[in-house]
Amino acid sequence: MTVSSAPGKVYLFGEHAVVYGEPAVPCAVERRATVSVSLRDDDHVRVRAEDLSLNGFTVEYSGSTGGRPDVDVPAPLVEAAMGYIDAAVEQARDAADAPDAGFDISVESDIPLGAGLGSSAAVVVAGIDAATRELGVELTPREIADRAYRAEYEVQDGQASRADTFCSAMGGAVRVEGDDCKTIDAPALPFVIGFDGGAGDTGALVSGVRDLRDRYDFAADTVSTIGDIVRRGETLLADADPDADPSEELLSELGEFMNFNHGLLEALGVSSRSLDSMVWAAREAGAYGAKLTGAGGGGCIVALDPTPETQTGLRFTPGCEDAFRAELATEGVRLEE
Ligand code: PMV
Repeated sequence: MTVSSAPGKVYLFGEHAVVYGEPAVPCAVERRATVSVSLRDDDHVRVRAEDLSLNGFTVEYSGSTGGRPDVDVPAPLVEAAMGYIDAAVEQARDAADAPDAGFDISVESDIPLGAGLGSSAAVVVAGIDAATRELGVELTPREIADRAYRAEYEVQDGQASRADTFCSAMGGAVRVEGDDCKTIDAPALPFVIGFDGGAGDTGALVSGVRDLRDRYDFAADTVSTIGDIVRRGETLLADADPDADPSEELLSELGEFMNFNHGLLEALGVSSRSLDSMVWAAREAGAYGAKLTGAGGGGCIVALDPTPETQTGLRFTPGCEDAFRAELATEGVRLEE
């Protein structure tokens, strides 16, 4: 058996605009998906998944590619998870030139599903790593990132940037602009995450922004202004000492840019009442800044605050189901055992 894990991520800046070639800066966070894979002696795929949600409900099912099991969890969750796992299996078979390889796969994750923290990317990245190793092939994190992107691209009908998969495979802070992806230096930023218990429909949200951008110049300008914020934000990170605690000045400026970025995402129609109220609660509790992370519509916000106040403030915010601190994950995909 081979066990690999990979982290989720938050967007410090740039979601949605990254779809149109603007840069984005996602940061990997210490919430991981762990995938265990054993090679079978037939060509079947059997999957068991647990803790696919942050708040601890357990999903268990088994099935093989092409047929879906009858389980007591919302069918879209199972379908979504199985789609990504199938795509990861196909990538691993292709990488190892083993089209008939069968696997027993077990997935555990403490990353909320579809909530803007890159849960599917983490499962795909860890799955490809574990399955290829099980077949005797060791891919580099960059190769895994590339194959994971292809898997996501296929499952999401072409609506995927490289941001989530690259960040999950490489770890740390990364910069993504089209096909150009690199890791960048960043100090350990004090992230607090608020989760409303829900999830957004990424495809519909991406289409909504595309539609606005096609119809209105000011929406297209809003998208490119997000790109400007990202460029200013990455300069701040580049000028900071990655090994020192972030200065008050750095946190204030990054926070201001995050607030601005959230306002523009809100203007593009991808926020929600619960995301907005968590953003405001975080700011009122003293965070340097806060914004939604990922596709939006529901799910998570990310705030910058080294003190416990923001987490506490969020916990008492109506609509917030959970709030937790998430350290920057400096390690991306890794072999666990
Ligand atoms: O919600 P997430 O973590 O899957 O992020 C979606 C980010 C978008 O920019 C909206 C789409 C993408 O593929 O980059």
